[in-house]
Amino acid sequence: MWKWKVTKGACSRLTCLSLLQALLVYALPVACSGEPCGAMCSNPLNGSTAVAGRHVRSYNHLQGDVRRRKLFSFQKFFLRIDKNGKVNGTKSKDDPFSILEIKSVDVGIVAVKGLGSNFYLAINKKGDLYGAKEFGTDCKLKERIEENGYNTYASAEWRNKKRPMFVGLSANGKPMRGKKTRRNNTTTHFLPMVV
Ligand SMILES: *[C@@H]1O[C@H](CO)[C@@H](O)[C@H](O)[C@H]1NC(C)=O
Ligand SMILES: *[C@@H]1O[C@H](CO)[C@@H](O)[C@H](O)[C@H]1NC(C)=O
Ligand SMILES: *[C@@H]1O[C@H](CO)[C@@H](O)[C@H](O)[C@H]1NC(C)=O
Ligand SMILES: *[C@@H]1O[C@H](CO)[C@@H](O)[C@H](O)[C@H]1NC(C)=O
Repeated sequence: MWKWKVTKGACSRLTCLSLLQALLVYALPVACSGEPCGAMCSNPLNGSTAVAGRHVRSYNHLQGDVRRRKLFSFQKFFLRIDKNGKVNGTKSKDDPFSILEIKSVDVGIVAVKGLGSNFYLAINKKGDLYGAKEFGTDCKLKERIEENGYNTYASAEWRNKKRPMFVGLSANGKPMRGKKTRRNNTTTHFLPMVV
């Protein structure tokens, strides 16, 4: 028997409905732990914006697609890129430097630009997180949905001893050094929220 966990989650009624339809159509035993389902169901935010954001996002994987979002960290900071190219987190809901434009530049690869500063989110070879004035290889980020429904953003170019280096914000909202980041650590987990 499959478990019906969806109704307990933060799903919008629409999401649950379409999920129900999918189940009816395919009559498959689906437990709510797979990736696409996890993305919709284990959203810890109860606001409809985030749910809508996920919903929209999951259909937009085409190259050139542009999304205006905030990246909300697991530790509840909004990622910001300020006018000096400094990257860190803010708790403020209306920090203009936290409004970002996420654009697909290749399959699974995105560029994230701060609209307030015009700097691109970047990771250099050493793993430092910074804002880049021009788009370059440091700015190519591999976007992936993790099992808990959060996204990770890893440098598409640089690795540390074959390990990916991720965009991360510490529990204090400070930028993480890429070499210290891990996919399974929540400091690298972000929810793209519709602005
Ligand atoms: C959302 O969750 C927060 C804290 O978990 C709670 O204070 C708030 O009332 C909730 N909002 C709604 C609309 O359920
Ligand atoms: C992020 O940087 C800004 C500007 O330097 C600073 O005012 C703010 O306190 C920093 N935030 C955190 C969480 O350190
Ligand atoms: C994360 O993965 C590393 C190995 O890559 C492992 O040593 C560590 O225990 C994992 N941590 C958690 C919290 O899952
Ligand atoms: C996640 O990373 C932070 C910073 O490196 C570390 O302090 C923390 O122990 C890690 N958590 C887990 C569960 O591995």
